[in-house]
Amino acid sequence: MLESVDEIQQEIESETIDSEASAESFRIKYLGRKSGKISDLFKRIQHVEPGDRADFGRRVNELKERAEARLDAFDALREHPGAGEEAKLDLTLPGRRPGPRGSIHPITQTLEKIRSVLERFGFFVAEGPEIETDWYNFTALNFPPDHPARDMQDTFFLEPGRVVLRTHTSPVQIRLMEAQPPPFRVIVPGRVYRNEAISYKSFCLFHQVEGLYVDEHVTFADLKHVLHLFAQAMFGDDVRMRFRPSFFPFTEPSAEVDIWWADPSGGDRGRWLEILGCGMVDPNVFEAVGVDPERYTGYAFGMGIERIAMLQYGIDDIRTFYENDIRFLDQF
Ligand code: DAH
Repeated sequence: MLESVDEIQQEIESETIDSEASAESFRIKYLGRKSGKISDLFKRIQHVEPGDRADFGRRVNELKERAEARLDAFDALREHPGAGEEAKLDLTLPGRRPGPRGSIHPITQTLEKIRSVLERFGFFVAEGPEIETDWYNFTALNFPPDHPARDMQDTFFLEPGRVVLRTHTSPVQIRLMEAQPPPFRVIVPGRVYRNEAISYKSFCLFHQVEGLYVDEHVTFADLKHVLHLFAQAMFGDDVRMRFRPSFFPFTEPSAEVDIWWADPSGGDRGRWLEILGCGMVDPNVFEAVGVDPERYTGYAFGMGIERIAMLQYGIDDIRTFYENDIRFLDQF
């Protein structure tokens, strides 16, 4: 008799209960009132030797509890799928790699670098609107109505001749100087738009940082000094730079700044690359905003963030900044 208790116990353990149907046949097979194996064992109690009865009864009861426990476990798993997972936890498996994480866009990183350098020199950050009127984008900046300088920039017009997507961050100079009297020492980061043929070197939108310093006694020497310190902070202490005479309607004199880009192969080979435009604020600009040009002087500069990021990271196609390709962005 006791042997068959052991046998049934083994049988119960080896049954698979993985569906409603298998649970039901398990129940009938072991716990069914009429002919369930465990129910049969209970019926046999009366035939057991009186001395063994108590022990037999206890074991059959345990068996019944075990069989019920198996059915309960199946029920629990059905109600909370995954609850059984803990039992299957294998601590020796290699860990899961963390999923993809975001990174800071290279334009943002470059802007942050530019900003942190110029903030050290006392510049504050200001911003202005991307939709501008002709006055701010051109006229107040001393672009005469028919001057070819207006053609230098291929403009997106929202209202022909009147409202534009700003083609540079310089209009914010006008907004600031209209709003309050000097002194100013500001930088203006922001998006600008140009209706240009899209290629590896030009895109319909990009970012600039404008600089403006206006006070009494500001000189071109101050401008050279600050831009030299800036270039050193951005490109290294031994950076070589040059100021090349240029023209902008809103500055006089005007210059473009180049830095020497050495050939990676070594030797003296390399080339000059333009990084920004700058100059002394033209007195006509001061007059347009009501700042006394006899009393104040100032310098301004403007640079393209993409251009600087391309130099710093060795990127050769401006369009990659705007494609949002994770394989590109992940590298920064
Ligand atoms: N606004 C010019 C451009 O978009 C860049 C520039 C040149 C800004 C000289 C300035 C400046 O403030 O002084 O090409």
